[in-house]
Amino acid sequence: MATQTVFRWTKRGSYDGLQEFKEPIPSAGSYELLVKVRSVSLNYRDVAIANMTYPYPIKDDVVPCCDMAGEVAQVGDHVEGFSVGDAVVLATSTAALYGPVKGLLHSLGGPVDGTLREYMVVPAHTAIKLPKSSHSFDQWAALVGTGSTMWNTFYAYAPLKPGQSVLLQGTGGVSLTALIFAKAAGATTIITSSSDDKLEYVKANLGVDYTINYKTHPDWAAEVQRITNGEGVDHVIENGGAGTIKQSIASVAYGGVVSVIGFLAANVPQDKMPDVAMEALNKGCVVRGILAGSKQQLEEATRHSASTGTRSSRV
Ligand SMILES: NC(=O)c1ccc[n+]([C@@H]2O[C@H](COP(=O)([O-])OP(=O)(O)OC[C@H]3O[C@@H](n4cnc5c(N)ncnc54)[C@H](OP(=O)(O)O)[C@@H]3O)[C@@H](O)[C@H]2O)c1
Repeated sequence: MATQTVFRWTKRGSYDGLQEFKEPIPSAGSYELLVKVRSVSLNYRDVAIANMTYPYPIKDDVVPCCDMAGEVAQVGDHVEGFSVGDAVVLATSTAALYGPVKGLLHSLGGPVDGTLREYMVVPAHTAIKLPKSSHSFDQWAALVGTGSTMWNTFYAYAPLKPGQSVLLQGTGGVSLTALIFAKAAGATTIITSSSDDKLEYVKANLGVDYTINYKTHPDWAAEVQRITNGEGVDHVIENGGAGTIKQSIASVAYGGVVSVIGFLAANVPQDKMPDVAMEALNKGCVVRGILAGSKQQLEEATRHSASTGTRSSRV
């Protein structure tokens, strides 16, 4: 029987727990595809799962990672619309086909096995056939988690319009993907970072309009207000969580949207927890949690990425 290489977390808390196995290559059932994984992208979530700081349940011996781009290696006999060789991606949650993501029980690389293996069988209706483009498999894989999250953030609730403004926290994957798509949408962009070198890079290479170093400007919301002439921004990409949300709300325009995506600065003592309800009320803003993105949202992001040539990026 033909075998493949599969990685599994046999023990988490140390990278030594990531072990390589030889396992059989499965076959596609009638309504399934066998996908050959060509590229896997790493997210902060994968690091958090490895070091046990991820706040949601994880399956024992899980195959890590949720983002992959691959090609169809076998098509089930009742599947229509796919051929061997088609390039495909999958949304993070295989149960979230459209509309709001309604839970995390089907998230790849968490409660179910993920993408760090050579082959995987998937229900055909969960796969997205990628549009023709010059993107590499690496570029498509890098778009999956950040791209679906960004599309949910910008287009599922209060669609980002040309001329609006967006604040992006840090120069990680979510933030830079959102920057690239916000620029493509005609928005004015402001990005923060702990590093002047990274800010220089983002300005020179990704065309961000304004930069703020959040270490040298710990009161970075005041900088946002100064840059926007006291108006605040229409959208905030909130990556820090409890440690940054107060300043995010102080940065947003009256009636704007703070999209709560990350928990990079969530380690805040109980007595220092911000009163988010009161801060939001004072600003008349929307504080909206983001649970990745559905298959439909990722599909729309891939179409946009192919037609505009935008690609996900990391510094
Ligand atoms: N809700 C969802 O659906 C969803 C989806 C994807 C990711 N996430 C979460 O979103 C967060 C970002 O993910 P990622 O993949 O972009 O992570 P990443 O690529 O590892 O981003 C790390 C960067 O974040 C920045 N950062 C860290 N602490 C910060 C702070 N206090 N203020 C501002 N920036 C800070 C730093 O930028 P500088 O080096 O420039 O300072 C750091 O380099 C993570 O918490 C992740 O779990 C959530």
